Amino acid sequence: MARGGQSRDTSVPGLAARQAAVRILDDILKDGITLDSALEAALGGLAHVQDRGLVRAIATTSLRRKGQIDNALGQFLAKPLPAKSGIAGSILVAAAAQLVFMRVPPHAAIDLAVRQARQDRNARHFSGLINAVLRKVSGTADTIAAETGAGRANTPDWLWQRWSGCFGDAVAGDIAEAHLIEPALDLSVKDGARANHWAGQLGGVVLANGSVRISGATGRIEDLPGYGDGEWWVQDAAASLPVAMLGDVKDLRVLDLCAAPGGKTAQLAAAGARVTAVDLSEARLARVGHNLQRLGLGADLVCRDAVALSADDPYDAVICDVPCSATGTIRRHPDLPYLKTAKQMTDLTKVQSAILGNAVNLTRPGGVIVYCTCSLECEECEVQIESLLASDAPVARDPVTPEQLFGQAHLVTERGELRSLPFHALGEMPGLDGFYACRLRKS
Ligand SMILES: C[S@@+](CC[C@H](N)C(=O)[O-])C[C@H]1O[C@@H](n2cnc3c(N)ncnc32)[C@H](O)[C@@H]1O
Repeated sequence: MARGGQSRDTSVPGLAARQAAVRILDDILKDGITLDSALEAALGGLAHVQDRGLVRAIATTSLRRKGQIDNALGQFLAKPLPAKSGIAGSILVAAAAQLVFMRVPPHAAIDLAVRQARQDRNARHFSGLINAVLRKVSGTADTIAAETGAGRANTPDWLWQRWSGCFGDAVAGDIAEAHLIEPALDLSVKDGARANHWAGQLGGVVLANGSVRISGATGRIEDLPGYGDGEWWVQDAAASLPVAMLGDVKDLRVLDLCAAPGGKTAQLAAAGARVTAVDLSEARLARVGHNLQRLGLGADLVCRDAVALSADDPYDAVICDVPCSATGTIRRHPDLPYLKTAKQMTDLTKVQSAILGNAVNLTRPGGVIVYCTCSLECEECEVQIESLLASDAPVARDPVTPEQLFGQAHLVTERGELRSLPFHALGEMPGLDGFYACRLRKS
């Protein structure tokens, strides 16, 4: 049974996919469930790969364009839908996304939306209204789609204010525009010398850092060539840069303090480091184990709070990829602006500074620490480093040079830190997760 007592109808082509997409939107927007979890729950019941791709596209387009869609619907709804309208609101959002941004023919998008409403015990009372509103949306689709300032319109005010305060309006606008674009799939190849081979096999290109980027990938990752043989793993190209900042790690003892799901652990192990991978979550650490097993790589796995960890023999290098707001990954997680609040943006700053402080204890004198986050929020990034450097901790910033980051000078700040933003390119290819990383050396 789908939400609202509505069963999945397979007799009408395309209806089951729309029902799944609406359920996902409702799960996210009403119940605060993440897109990944909602997709996992909803996609299981769909037999066809094409249907799964369509469901994902409707859900992500609805979220990426929710500001514009809400504005358009607001013009045609005399008053907001009442709480007892059930899934009617999500039906409208999903259908508007199809009409305006996916160019689904109006007869299909509107007919399927109305059918869906009629089958739902609450939304059925609004099926006439849904029909009328969607016809008006369809009639103005070109105007809505051509609207300028779409990035700003689709960014909740509280996030916009944070980014314009931190980066200025122009950069905030570029960040917001980048969030409208479906990101490519980036892979890290276990044997870097085979990156060209895998790019050829997978129809991708090799980026300046050696990642393979595949645009427009469809279907299951697990079904792509090389996955089962452990030849590569999924990792945004920007997420691979903090490990590159450690330089040559062959034979070094490296501590990966917040390791799961293990992208950086795999990079370190593939580069010949002797890795200890720590994570607080047993379940997530088990994923690191499975991923390493598939890749034929090894690391010591330790389930522990990074704040409480101690070591008799401190490490040559420590990487702390701390838990954070993850606002640098909104391209991949367009649900995030609707799941988090302004207050939650700084919820993790205390644990971040405690982990960073302990990373210093766990590093040998002369050793290197890389602190990193997939956050755009300065409290989780620059502010953490400034407050560590203002303390009496025995560390100094060890600025990274563009040459150490594959010649990508635009990703290196004046202070020699990494700051990738979603609109940045790696070489010729725009689109990166937002990552911050600072390298420190212990005295
Ligand atoms: C951003 S993720 C790490 C991503 C990982 N480094 C990678 O590249 O795949 C943050 C991780 O920190 C873990 N974590 C959160 N608090 C922690 C703590 N106090 N000690 C250790 N790990 C922690 C979370 O379980 C989560 O897996």
